[in-house]
Amino acid sequence: MVPSFLSPIFSPLSLWVSGVILVIGFLKLLRLLLRRQKLARAMESFSGPPTHWLFGHALQAKQTDFLERVVSWAHQFPYAHQLWFGQFLGFLNIYEPDYAKAVYSRGDPKAPDVYDFFLQWIGKGLLVLHGPKWFQHRKLLTPGFHYDVLKPYVAVFAECTHAMLDKWEKKALEDKSFDIFCDVGHMALDTLMRCTFGKGEKGLCQRDNNYYLAVSDLTLLMQQRIESFQYHNDFIYWLTPHGRRFLRACKMAHDHTDQVIRKRKEVLKDEKEQEKIQKRKHLDFLDILLEARDENGLRLSDTDIRAEVDTFMFEGHDTTTSGISWFLYCMALYPEHQQRCREEVREILGDKDSFQWDDLGKMTYLTMCIKESFRLYPPVPQVYRQLSKPVNFVDGRSLPAGSLISLHIYALHRNSAVWPDPEVFDPLRFSPENMSGRHPFAFMPFSAGPRNCIGQQFAMNEMKVVTALCLHRFEFSLDPSRVPIKMPQLILRSKNGIHLHLKSLGRGPGK
Ligand code: HEM
Repeated sequence: MVPSFLSPIFSPLSLWVSGVILVIGFLKLLRLLLRRQKLARAMESFSGPPTHWLFGHALQAKQTDFLERVVSWAHQFPYAHQLWFGQFLGFLNIYEPDYAKAVYSRGDPKAPDVYDFFLQWIGKGLLVLHGPKWFQHRKLLTPGFHYDVLKPYVAVFAECTHAMLDKWEKKALEDKSFDIFCDVGHMALDTLMRCTFGKGEKGLCQRDNNYYLAVSDLTLLMQQRIESFQYHNDFIYWLTPHGRRFLRACKMAHDHTDQVIRKRKEVLKDEKEQEKIQKRKHLDFLDILLEARDENGLRLSDTDIRAEVDTFMFEGHDTTTSGISWFLYCMALYPEHQQRCREEVREILGDKDSFQWDDLGKMTYLTMCIKESFRLYPPVPQVYRQLSKPVNFVDGRSLPAGSLISLHIYALHRNSAVWPDPEVFDPLRFSPENMSGRHPFAFMPFSAGPRNCIGQQFAMNEMKVVTALCLHRFEFSLDPSRVPIKMPQLILRSKNGIHLHLKSLGRGPGK
């Protein structure tokens, strides 16, 4: 007989509920085991570094030297190796140009096991979408990055950079190193909002700052989630403190993007503004989204608009922040290249304060240095795909449809078969002579193929203007006591910031 104090536990309802939970749990586990078996069988012909019985390679992924470890695995396992985050999420990690071409020249979808973690935050925008809807949005938004739209942005890049550099004049007086990452991030967000989201006022308000902080938290939590199998299930994740923190940060990010959309919609209600916009030959990104109609004359849904705004707001500033910050670090590390870039910038600027559109094409040495810093410090170090059909690789091995691919851009860019002495900073790798004949998939900071970065021209222009003005006004040197510790956090960050010493060269606007 069941004692009376236990009877509620064994009531028919609770037994029934427990039974259902057990069966669902069992079916889920069975599905996961079958999936593991399928992924492992697909990758049979590829070996890989030893795995932990429970965590796979996830424990190594959490170490601060993980990027270097993948580079050493790439030496050990030519072309590709298995990479497991837990027992149920296994990728073929690739870092060889022919392998990259076999996958990235096609339009396979993003791996849902990773990109679905984005949904709560950036929804189904261009980064995550696939199929006809991705194609429709990509076609719609591409004109937002037309050369004529980008041209006037040069002045905005310069204005936002000068505002940051004015702040740095004061900091440089203190004669101690400081972390440049956050200031660069604020500048990049300000620039993006003014160029593509029609923001009129200069500088960031409290809501923008909150957004910046929220993104930093969201990228950290996303990276942790990818690497921690116990967080892969949505239901479990939302119950954890990390999951709840993610939801709070999402709310903060959405408060910001909702406000941006609301403000622009209000402006568009004004008939005069409407007329002005219709007369413009090229619309900016947000106007395109708000004015878009499909073949039946229907607008994009509010959910679609929000997803694209969230996607571009994130992709458009966090990546360039990483690119600019690591570039300045490279300049501090290699003063001879810094000086050569500065001389080129001085020659182009002459006695002007800022650049014209045509000047960007003259920055040849600076552009080579930017590319070399993208090679060694790719702002997006890793991207993932799921094969929609089988793929055959150049060495005769293959993978079936459904397999998961991780392209390790960081390791690809240090592949010694393509890049002799890969650790050496040598901008001349990107001279026209040295580039001709190089494999087109050897250098992929913006990915490649149909799902490449839509904002790459915008980003390159911004990189050139911002870095040229930085080098014109300051000399950058290292703080040997604070060497940055590289840390992938969707983008490439530094765990301890990027601390540099700055010396003003007394060349602010009007000087
Ligand atoms: C240095 C700066 C940048 C780098 C290194 C970079 C890199 C990349 C990479 C590697 C991808 C492929 C992602 C994947 O496959 O998961 C990508 C996609 C994308 N990027 Fe960028 N990006 C930069 C700047 C920008 C900017 C400034 C914008 C917008 C203003 C932007 C918007 C996007 C979007 C929307 C996608 C998804 C495109 C699609 O799938 O059709 N990016 N970017």
